[in-house]
Amino acid sequence: MGEKRSVTDAAVRGRRVLVRVDFNVPQTPTGGIADDRRIVEALPTLEHLRAHGARSILVSHLGRPEGRRDPKLSLRPIAHRLSQLVGQPVLFADDAVGYSAIELASRMKDGDLLLLENVRFHAGEEANDPAFAAQLARLAELFVEDAFGTLHRAHASTVGVAKRLPSFAGLLVAREVRELSRLRDAPIAPYVAILGGAKVRDKLPLLSSFLGRTQLILIGGALSFPFLAAAGHSLGATETEPGLEPAVREFLQAAADRGTRVLLPEDAVIERPDRSSVEVVRLDAVPSDGRIRDIGPATQRTFASALAEARTVFWNGPLGLAEDARFSEGTRAVLGSLRGSTAYRVAAGGDSAAIAEALGVIESFNFISTGGGAALEFVQGADLPGLAVLPDAR
Ligand code: 3PG
Repeated sequence: MGEKRSVTDAAVRGRRVLVRVDFNVPQTPTGGIADDRRIVEALPTLEHLRAHGARSILVSHLGRPEGRRDPKLSLRPIAHRLSQLVGQPVLFADDAVGYSAIELASRMKDGDLLLLENVRFHAGEEANDPAFAAQLARLAELFVEDAFGTLHRAHASTVGVAKRLPSFAGLLVAREVRELSRLRDAPIAPYVAILGGAKVRDKLPLLSSFLGRTQLILIGGALSFPFLAAAGHSLGATETEPGLEPAVREFLQAAADRGTRVLLPEDAVIERPDRSSVEVVRLDAVPSDGRIRDIGPATQRTFASALAEARTVFWNGPLGLAEDARFSEGTRAVLGSLRGSTAYRVAAGGDSAAIAEALGVIESFNFISTGGGAALEFVQGADLPGLAVLPDAR
């Protein structure tokens, strides 16, 4: 895939530019912004547009409101945070389309920023409804795609508007594509993927495209549970998604056929009801009331020594319940072992970055992608619809 036409090639002065950003930030339990990395990473494009006199109209989703207005998923707090970051007021339209958006857009001056309300409050967004895409496109004269984390979604604000307006890739999209292409096109072996986190049902189908590309996959977190169950381990009272073992067996057979090794946890940190302290157990000895919360020290050592040889590393998802200090050591120890490694090391996932920061292991990575699913799909060579629709650079 060639380079995409860049925002730096667009004549933007005095023109209204619709900018797709991914402000789908992790939220605190009270609806605050838990990590503003995705907003910060959009700044280079926004600064470029402002410096060149564009009137930037920002469109994003937050969460999955499924076509209904949900005040907990309003982007208004993000407009506030953005105005602090850019040092100028950011206008806010309380609907992504319709009267308020049109009215505010028509009153903008060169260099102004306008953020539209959560585009997923409209069912037409995820359906990529042509009428909805046309309504969005009507707000502007040009389109800039800078939502790397959403490029794997063929939605109205990604693909729909790009088909209706002269379109350009933003600076974040260009940077992500450049960095992640190193993993997609020519990863240096041994290439090791460290995969964990939840969303097991979503992730399992994606795993098979790592086969043949990576030499080794280390699996932890909730993602390891169906693997451990398929290996015949009893997981005690650990909450698991049922019915995934057949897919896991198929994956392990394919891994063996394609020559990719898969390492699973050998011990675990568990929590039991009515006990204040946590325990380390071997995986063949999880008590019936025990809940697996982290990988144990033996697994940490095995994973760390496997990583010592790596020349390319991709990490997505914590290896335990890392938001709880009692269960963050596995993730910290394994990722911490990468510090100073000569491998090219990439972390992906909106939450992964926040976790790496909280655990003090951000230095273990050369590049932190703002994408979760989009990064996973990109490094495996999938075509991302939001990228494919953009014109190539000449
Ligand atoms: C993400 O967080 O991965 C992106 O913002 C896409 O969100 P989605 O998975 O709800 O489409």
